[in-house]
Amino acid sequence: MGSLSKQEQVECREKAEYANVNWDELGFALTKTDYMYVMNFTEEEQKFFNGTLTRFGNIEMCPSSGILNYGQGLFEGLKAYRKEDEGILLFRPQENALRMKMGADRMCMPSPTVDQFIDAVKKTVLANKRWVPPYGRGSLYVRPLLMGTGRNLGVKPSSDYTFLVYASPVGNYHKVYCCREASLKVKHVLELNNTLFLKGDLNLMVEDNVHRAIPGGTGGIKAVTNYSPVYKPLTEAKAKGFSDLLFLDASTGSNIEEGSACNIFILKGNVISTPATHGTILPGITRKSIMEIASGFGYQVEERAIPIKEVFDAEEVFCTGTAMVVKSVASITYQGKRIQYKLGAETLAQKLHATLTGIQTGLIEDKLGWTMLID
Ligand code: COI
Repeated sequence: MGSLSKQEQVECREKAEYANVNWDELGFALTKTDYMYVMNFTEEEQKFFNGTLTRFGNIEMCPSSGILNYGQGLFEGLKAYRKEDEGILLFRPQENALRMKMGADRMCMPSPTVDQFIDAVKKTVLANKRWVPPYGRGSLYVRPLLMGTGRNLGVKPSSDYTFLVYASPVGNYHKVYCCREASLKVKHVLELNNTLFLKGDLNLMVEDNVHRAIPGGTGGIKAVTNYSPVYKPLTEAKAKGFSDLLFLDASTGSNIEEGSACNIFILKGNVISTPATHGTILPGITRKSIMEIASGFGYQVEERAIPIKEVFDAEEVFCTGTAMVVKSVASITYQGKRIQYKLGAETLAQKLHATLTGIQTGLIEDKLGWTMLID
């Protein structure tokens, strides 16, 4: 860099260290990054081998592959955060690796070992380092996929599999599109059925017709097939101004389960409750972390069946997920009745969010060994 001016050297370094992204505009959408990681399992080898980084791009597969025809596939989601000193932290990647193994077992798929999984995630993040947002301005969302990719037409487990990891910088899951006070009234408020919804807040509608999961089904794993079956009621709810649905259990229709992509908690007094995971609820890693943090704060944490009636007198309600982190619920609407909850800086959800993201970004000492420094 000898012939460059100081300013040019700084610009050049910044360009190499950071991709050209408007970090403050990030929501939860794909920004294509440089590399992805691909590793195959073949019928001949009977193991995952020769994982490699390749340029991010489209992949080829046989039209009769298990994932395309019969939905034999799983995904995971985890995040890499940049610390204040520019180091990069992964949050509990072993948990994702173990959850993928559990899901693979249910879906009759082989899975990469925990070490292979973590190695692939680390390599993907480091190869896409310039896409990890600056400290405090988002995270790099890492999406591992496990797919049946053998050329099998019959209804049976695939002969071959592909494990693929890609990544994208992300910001808020429910992005608030405009932050200026002046336009808040106009742009953020939706008035529907005489109800005011503030865009950006989480307004849930209880779905008592469509079920996300059934006992004995795949609701407790991250099967790719768990998501699109709820698009229809979700799209209808969004058209009415709601942010997400709150599903009820399929057996009795009287207990809350979870949202379309998040777990749920209710607070009453000193007790925080969340639906127990008996196969129809995703065992979220953020859910598990929040339970541990809340216990450390002195709350009594209960995993149990939660009748919808209880939601009516909860003091606070919040949702958790890797993509969403921790988010207060502003309202829940059930059979035409809308219940509103406490929001803002004094909520437990805010305190839990600050602690969790503090640990994830290295701001708060990680006494539990949840983070993995990879840089
Ligand atoms: C996550 O929070 O990582 C999820 O898997 C939810 C996703 C469907 C956006």
